[in-house]
Amino acid sequence: MKVVIPAAGLGTRFLPATKSMPKEMLPVMGRPVIQYVVEEAVASGADDIIIVTGRGKRALEDHFDHNPELGAFNSQPALQSLEALSEKATIHFVRQRSALGLAHAVLCAEQHVGREAFGVLLGDSIYECDPPVLSQLRMAVDRWAPRGSAVALELVPEDRVHHYGIVGGQALGPGALRVERLVEKPKAEDAPSRYALTGAYWLSPRIFDCIRSTPAGRRNEVELTDALQKLADQEPVIGVVIDGRRYDTGTPLLWFETNLRFGLRDPEYRAALERVVAERGSAPTSSTERSK
Ligand code: UTP
Repeated sequence: MKVVIPAAGLGTRFLPATKSMPKEMLPVMGRPVIQYVVEEAVASGADDIIIVTGRGKRALEDHFDHNPELGAFNSQPALQSLEALSEKATIHFVRQRSALGLAHAVLCAEQHVGREAFGVLLGDSIYECDPPVLSQLRMAVDRWAPRGSAVALELVPEDRVHHYGIVGGQALGPGALRVERLVEKPKAEDAPSRYALTGAYWLSPRIFDCIRSTPAGRRNEVELTDALQKLADQEPVIGVVIDGRRYDTGTPLLWFETNLRFGLRDPEYRAALERVVAERGSAPTSSTERSK
């Protein structure tokens, strides 16, 4: 099973941290985000992973390569499990020559994917789902639309719909709908629902033709949401409200929040955080406050 992971974006919302470093390499609790994404793909059954990279993204390739210079450190459990991950799936890299949008990044993997259905996971989003998110999408396709496609959805509050691709359609059953309309970042009053695309997809290869015939929109980028509308006009696309959670790490605040959430599960990190919060509650917090 093939999974494409677009990771060639410029990460402009995370500058200057991402000026010379891929945002997909930012750590969450000591592991780079891209590693979580590859782990999720492998858990879903992927044995052939295509990471779409671009200029300044070499660190992504190096991360999944063996590093002989680390010598004995290579036997550390954390590095052993990374090595094991790289052996469970073959990881290929293709270049997106210009950051022309998510859909264009997916199109860069066309030759490698060929004419079979494939998964897409974003390089900056961590899923915690059981079953894994792509397995949930495949199950929905098997049930509702063999040979069709599926997109992962989450319900978002009305005042947040303008941040997402929003989907409307006919209910098929609990947590599943046949997608009829997709709108990228609509105003609340124009949104067909509060079901938002979360960035995980199971796509039929007909998506490539749809991407090719989709004109570029905002920022000269081809939106995957617009290409999916073309696909949904031609063949079944199922929307699946996923059982689980997605953590977007694409801005400093979202990344920080993800680290806090994951850190609070670890006794050592939790104790450190509680100490910092307690200190803040009991002591003056800045020189300005002290001088008052
Ligand atoms: P984002 O829109 O979150 O990434 O795309 P971005 O474009 O890097 O972010 P900003 O808006 O400039 O801050 C989600 C995923 O799609 C990849 C990104 O690398 C990210 O992992 N992507 C995005 C591409 O591979 N190519 C693109 O042209 C755009």
